Amino acid sequence: MRFQNLVLALSVLAHAQPTPPEQCATGVHAILIRGQGPGDHLNVMVSVQNLVLQLIPGSTCVALPYKHGLDDHRRAAGDGAYLMQQYIRQYIADCPNSKIFLHGYSLGGIVLMDGLCGTSSSWLYPVTALEPMYNTSVIAAVSYGEETFLPQMPWNIGTCTNGTGLYPRIHPEWCFPYMHSLRSYCDIGDVECCLSDPPGNNLPHFLYIWKYNMDVIDFIKRRLNETRNQ
Ligand SMILES: *[C@@H]1O[C@H](CO)[C@@H](O)[C@H](O)[C@H]1NC(C)=O
Ligand SMILES: *[C@@H]1O[C@H](CO)[C@@H](O)[C@H](O)[C@H]1NC(C)=O
Ligand SMILES: *[C@@H]1O[C@H](CO)[C@@H](O)[C@H](O)[C@H]1NC(C)=O
Repeated sequence: MRFQNLVLALSVLAHAQPTPPEQCATGVHAILIRGQGPGDHLNVMVSVQNLVLQLIPGSTCVALPYKHGLDDHRRAAGDGAYLMQQYIRQYIADCPNSKIFLHGYSLGGIVLMDGLCGTSSSWLYPVTALEPMYNTSVIAAVSYGEETFLPQMPWNIGTCTNGTGLYPRIHPEWCFPYMHSLRSYCDIGDVECCLSDPPGNNLPHFLYIWKYNMDVIDFIKRRLNETRNQ
């Protein structure tokens, strides 16, 4: 389980570490961004990690070691978004030919979306968008139950058709450079990404990994194929 060890070794470090050329991913390099809560950096994202390593040969994974345990969600999201950007820039500096898959769950989804698009929700701390040039490297960027969710976006998947997240994104067009890579899974009844009438019991917020992980793997495979000459 060499990859598991690599994930654990990297995840205790708060800054992006250099990747030696022989460790550059030939499948996909996954940066996994868990939701709010104390404890280890991978949490339920271990399920996604295992599928990526088993089903997409030549892949590597790292759990983003952001401060997901903070009570201050704004600071956790803002600091996490800048840390994710630093991980992407460092990885592509070391492995310019590798492809990146980002996956954020809930608070980790805010980290992902604000890190790529820049913040445009009234309550959240401002984060500047990642440079658009990384849109040839970031080939898949998937969120589960993400609180800046807006209905009717081309990247939406799931059963939430008319609810909005707790902190709806005001400028979704800032995400356009990453549009082909984005997918936001949000189901009706998830009151973090899909506030609607009638309100749900939030159970769907905890079911994404069971329902959609294989769909995400298929999406990564399709995107790897589509972007193989880019
Ligand atoms: C929102 O979607 C739900 C489920 O599809 C539906 O029952 C409800 O009528 C919709 N509300 C509006 C305002 O479109
Ligand atoms: C990357 O973003 C630029 C600027 O928005 C856009 O012109 C280009 O089509 C995008 N490339 C890909 C591969 O999405
Ligand atoms: C890869 O993409 C090509 C077209 O670009 C398509 O013909 C082929 O079926 C795809 N392969 C897979 C495995 O999806």
